[in-house]
Amino acid sequence: MRPKVLVTREIPARPLKLLQEKAEVTINGEDREMTVEEIIAQLPQKIALLSMAGDPLSAKVLGTGKDLKIVANYAVGFNNIDLVAATRLKIAVTNTPEVLTDTTADLAFALILGVARKVAEADRFVRAGKWVGWKPGLFLGSDVHGKTLGIIGLGRIGTSMAQRALGFNMEILYTDVRPIDRSVEERYRAKYVSLKELLQSADFVTIHVALTPDTIHLIGREELRLMKSTAFLINASRGPVVNEKDLVEALKAGMIAGAGLDVFEEEPRVTPELIQMDNVLLLPHIGSATFETREKMALVAVNNIIAILRGETPPNILNPEIYSK
Ligand code: GLV
Ligand code: GLV
Repeated sequence: MRPKVLVTREIPARPLKLLQEKAEVTINGEDREMTVEEIIAQLPQKIALLSMAGDPLSAKVLGTGKDLKIVANYAVGFNNIDLVAATRLKIAVTNTPEVLTDTTADLAFALILGVARKVAEADRFVRAGKWVGWKPGLFLGSDVHGKTLGIIGLGRIGTSMAQRALGFNMEILYTDVRPIDRSVEERYRAKYVSLKELLQSADFVTIHVALTPDTIHLIGREELRLMKSTAFLINASRGPVVNEKDLVEALKAGMIAGAGLDVFEEEPRVTPELIQMDNVLLLPHIGSATFETREKMALVAVNNIIAILRGETPPNILNPEIYSK
């Protein structure tokens, strides 16, 4: 009998075909997320689950996968999975790091440029037929080059942001749990500072941390208050890292100049007030959304599943301790 695999959402064709060569694949062909009940109904007998970042895989859901050996998440973030429960159940969990690093940094940088130069707002203006001629004061924005970029979380994506910022001749500050290698700091001319100093000094604050109990609402009222009134907040990590309600208040009060957001606290819900604001750029969680990268991400997820089918340790395992007992 061929091993059974559940794929909760359509993935690029080539990696899917690779998976279908090795397994009997059930794929959600509908253009919507599977409900928790649907996932639970499908899990029995499945050896592998290829999941999306929006699939809430709680202990209860994972527990219904009696034959489940791997959850291969189609994302670098894995806050949607109860990793502790998966480990207890000896289910391998994998993610898709590295392949999406530069793509996500590209998008975060697009948010910086877009919000600073009012790209979306100006586009709406042209489309609305409001453009009647050149005007000296039309859509004046803020420079990006030469400014100070504050990177919260200098991991893979954060470092990729630093690399881009160098090309814009920006001064780079970062904060993290601890300073990184001196040689890496030197390569990117990145200076380690406290979160407080970063917030007080940066013209653009960009967040690149994983969502964990330690980073929920890392940025709230107090932190926003420290930022310059001319500064912008960029978030392409996970919505709950920012207290969205506090962000709305800060924007309304003019405490910061604007925000570029690819993620929200309760996706796909966006706080209605944000939609009314011209100084915010709102994107529907598309950080890794390029043809090239989605294909690579699918290949990574599929290869992790194939490793399990072969009895090997998946290359991107997040809970290797399941093998140590
Ligand atoms: C997407 O949000 C990811 O974590 O890859
Ligand atoms: C994610 O891949 C990160 O380390 O930023």
